[in-house]
Amino acid sequence: MRAGDADWRGGRVPLYVFGALPEIEEIGRQAYLAFFSENALGARRAFRSLARMEEEIADMVLDLFHAPPDATATMTSGGTESILLAVKASRDVARRHRQPPFARDNLVLPETAHPAFDKAALLMDLEVRRIAVAGDLRADIGAMAAAIDRETILLAGSAPCFPYGTIDPIADLSELALARNVWLHVDACVGGYLAPFARDLGYPIPEFDFALPGVASLSADLHKFGFCPKPASTVCFRDVVRGDAAGFDLDVWPGGRFTTRTFVGTRPGGAIAAAWAVLNHLGRDGYRALARRLLTMRDAYIAGIEAIPGMRVFGSPELTILAFGSPAIDMSAVADAMRTRGWVPGLVRKPPGLHIMASLLHEPVRTRYLDDLAAAVAAAPAANAPKIAAVY
Ligand SMILES: Cc1ncc(COP(=O)(O)O)c(C=O)c1O
Repeated sequence: MRAGDADWRGGRVPLYVFGALPEIEEIGRQAYLAFFSENALGARRAFRSLARMEEEIADMVLDLFHAPPDATATMTSGGTESILLAVKASRDVARRHRQPPFARDNLVLPETAHPAFDKAALLMDLEVRRIAVAGDLRADIGAMAAAIDRETILLAGSAPCFPYGTIDPIADLSELALARNVWLHVDACVGGYLAPFARDLGYPIPEFDFALPGVASLSADLHKFGFCPKPASTVCFRDVVRGDAAGFDLDVWPGGRFTTRTFVGTRPGGAIAAAWAVLNHLGRDGYRALARRLLTMRDAYIAGIEAIPGMRVFGSPELTILAFGSPAIDMSAVADAMRTRGWVPGLVRKPPGLHIMASLLHEPVRTRYLDDLAAAVAAAPAANAPKIAAVY
């Protein structure tokens, strides 16, 4: 069945799978298989080992994100679930201070925020206000401030956003959140386990975590640049009150009191054991070494892309997500040509461009990718109506 699949191990897929080193994949696999059948829903009552691993992961993660002593963290199935929980908590905390019937609460987001916020809004009947980004492809603080009203329950910023890889000005959003008394969620799903280490190495990474006093919650995906097996993400809350508001507690069921800190019920024990093993194996030094390699590779990709006549990287991406193109060249035709050459082309549409979310899977194929890109660009017609729709 796999015969027609894209060759992700060969670096042909620019997203979905995040590779570091074979040894890390193997450690994750072994730990996963060791806890293949255990269900983390029963961690507190039956599988103390898993509960302990989750507690240790939470401690590591909160420390990494400069969280205050009262902060909490929960492991989830991915960025989407982490964001759903943060939105749910923000809604429930906001409603404590209001009288029903409630107006339709709203979320104020940069237009680049992930669609997971819209999924949360759909489930919880909230309004989404997506605000155009500024010229530097980062959240426009003034425009976001103007969109806030009495029914705004959450502001968000990304570190970085998926479409352009740019980190929003979280320090400014933090000030805005405090001034207007609104919950700020930082979506560090992509950058959470890479940005702190890039910062240690001296790369210009702005502050984005709980060191900023207005940050109420933060999501960071272990299964992206944490290089842990899927499904694994973390969502952190500044204090217990806000963390508890994300949870679920039902006490009228004949089956007994039912509480979870996640949306899902049954959870794979393997994903927790694997994340614990990978985090302990790598430690901060391991992640720093990976960050060094990733950003060196990123710089080489940027240089290679910009050496192709007309090609420019959009904005100034801080990590390894890059979007690039040229207003003069039909980027759909370039994407088409890349597909013909065996690459799954990542795409963005505003402005039309190609997109890569590079991990170490893309290190050995860089020259080949850039050669094919140069050939595709040279053969592409001038810009006209896009032929290929950008699909995530
Ligand atoms: C910035 C950002 N946030 C959230 C998510 C959602 O993560 P997941 O696909 O794990 O639900 C993604 C996925 O790529 C993302 O790029």
